[in-house]
Amino acid sequence: MRLFGGSDERLFMMMGGAKVEVMDMESEKKTIIEWFWCFQLSNDDLTMIQRRYGGSDNFLVVSWSDRKEGWIDCYNSSQKILLVGEGDFSFSACLARAFGTAKNMVATWYLDEDCLVINHQTSLSHLEELGRLGCVLMYQIDVHKMHTHPILKGMKFDIIIFNFPHAGHICYLREHDTELIQKHKELVGAYFRNASKMLSEGGEVHIRHRDDSPYDRWDIVSLAVEAGLKLKEKVRFSESEYPGYIQRRGGGIKTDDTFPIGSPFTFKFALDYTRR
Ligand SMILES: C[S@@+](CC[C@H](N)C(=O)[O-])C[C@H]1O[C@@H](n2cnc3c(N)ncnc32)[C@H](O)[C@@H]1O
Repeated sequence: MRLFGGSDERLFMMMGGAKVEVMDMESEKKTIIEWFWCFQLSNDDLTMIQRRYGGSDNFLVVSWSDRKEGWIDCYNSSQKILLVGEGDFSFSACLARAFGTAKNMVATWYLDEDCLVINHQTSLSHLEELGRLGCVLMYQIDVHKMHTHPILKGMKFDIIIFNFPHAGHICYLREHDTELIQKHKELVGAYFRNASKMLSEGGEVHIRHRDDSPYDRWDIVSLAVEAGLKLKEKVRFSESEYPGYIQRRGGGIKTDDTFPIGSPFTFKFALDYTRR
């Protein structure tokens, strides 16, 4: 078994353990195979991986975690993270669990607290977990004016996340109707304008979104550019990377239902200093 070296390895971390990614040398297919409850892989761990894969030399360990921070996908526990437009807070709770702490997280909901519990019973356990891990929980946070909120206006964030924004369901409108698309665009534009004022240096604004029709008609990259942001990266979003996260429809009709996310992407934006 050979180890991949270099300073640009992708590092993975979850629940205080390490996530190991191996690559089949023939097919070049990469697979994440194991969580290890240790901070650094020992030779014994590597032997164990090799045994599990038939003692084959065909598997190459391409990355593993050796960091003390909690990591999940592209996020880590030392980043100051703001989550807006949460559903039942299962995404926030997933991050907090992976980090082992939520002391750098602010997780928010659009409407008031009573409304949350009525709409999403499952939020109760997530809120309890988030509270225990030190997360700041806030209600009635509207992306249209969040940067002027009395508490949030004094804060800067390394990462701001809005997963699957949606302006709400209207019984006579379908997703391909221009009137509804305009509402979605108005919501996402407001999110970008506000978030861009709340970033720390080098910070990023993230959004998870489908990019097939009719969702591509939202043209979120142009909305971000109008808000002074530029696209830094667009990567496939895999929900299996976020154990426990369940997307909730929100928006007034069948609010607690989940919904098809298709093959979505994570869009990552940063401030475009050339336009400031
Ligand atoms: C499709 S749901 C996605 C919920 C959650 N992010 C998830 O992934 O499960 C869209 C969410 O956008 C929220 N939302 C709509 N308008 C908003 C606004 N002006 N400010 C903040 N959140 C808003 C709704 O409350 C709803 O929870």
